[in-house]
Amino acid sequence: MKNYQGKTAVITGAGSGFGLEVARLAALRGMNLVLCDVQSDALEKAAAEFDGHPVMARRVDVAKAAEMEALAAAVQQRFGAPHFVFNNAGVAAGGLVWENTAADWDWVLGVNLMGVVHGVRLFTPMMLAAATADPAYEGHIINTASMAGLLNAPNMGIYNVSKHAVVALSETLFQDLSLVTEQIRCSVLCPFFVPTGIAQSHRNRPAEAASSKPTQAQLISQAMSDKAVSSGKLSAADVAAMVFAAADAEQFYVFSHPKSLAGVQTRMEDVMLLRNPTDPFKDKPELGAKLRAALKGV
Ligand SMILES: NC(=O)c1ccc[n+]([C@@H]2O[C@H](COP(=O)([O-])OP(=O)(O)OC[C@H]3O[C@@H](n4cnc5c(N)ncnc54)[C@H](O)[C@@H]3O)[C@@H](O)[C@H]2O)c1
Repeated sequence: MKNYQGKTAVITGAGSGFGLEVARLAALRGMNLVLCDVQSDALEKAAAEFDGHPVMARRVDVAKAAEMEALAAAVQQRFGAPHFVFNNAGVAAGGLVWENTAADWDWVLGVNLMGVVHGVRLFTPMMLAAATADPAYEGHIINTASMAGLLNAPNMGIYNVSKHAVVALSETLFQDLSLVTEQIRCSVLCPFFVPTGIAQSHRNRPAEAASSKPTQAQLISQAMSDKAVSSGKLSAADVAAMVFAAADAEQFYVFSHPKSLAGVQTRMEDVMLLRNPTDPFKDKPELGAKLRAALKGV
């Protein structure tokens, strides 16, 4: 995508982290902003930053089909088809994969997977119609997955499953778009640990999906993700810059930490060589031993 000035960006999870930083860069590029988040106070604060700028701020739970449909209709009415769609809202949860409740699965897959599904199924047809009507139209869709969409670290299976599904959806979207248009491209963002609000995702867990008392493994998962996320060296602003660089260059895969791809290579070799999944702690055996000791008897 080459021209952003006066074009429209739809950003989910815009109240914090990557969403907010992408909104800031979209504003600098002169775009109309559609900011969505389920957390009203964060959304209002974000929207206030762009006072005087064309902004539509809307409280939307991306997991809810009807709320996303109403959003798409409102965007169509105010700005017409969007040009840049960042399906980014997400939440994290962990624990041993058999411990997650049905409510946990509904919440995590609802936000991380169905939120992206709704963004794709609602905005892509609007963008395709705009592309047909105007040969100069160009659009870009970016879905936020994670390195957890390409790896399967233990004790966070529910998140891994949701993010693998986003990678699958995005790779298929890339192929499907290339069957029908050259005017709309897509990317998948796969960050590694970056300091944002993601480790405090439970702040937005809806009452109807209330969690049960955390298990020992879930407490450990929370402590490990608190530490990993807070000690990340890149900032959310750095990642937002990568998102726009990818849209500029029509680059599909966006990796914040390319070194972590070594783990993906190992996983692919496991598959190709029919080898059992490699111990994720092979380079840090003391960490694996500590985790096993903590989980003994669980
Ligand atoms: N920060 C990391 O280390 C990291 C790594 C890999 C992937 N990710 C992914 O990046 C994306 C953005 O997360 P972040 O790191 O900026 O965290 P964040 O918590 O700072 O931002 C996520 C935003 O999504 C919003 N949100 C949560 N549930 C929602 C819902 N149901 N509907 C609408 N909005 C909702 C939150 O209110 C929040 O503003 C997520 O998909 C996350 O899984 C983050």
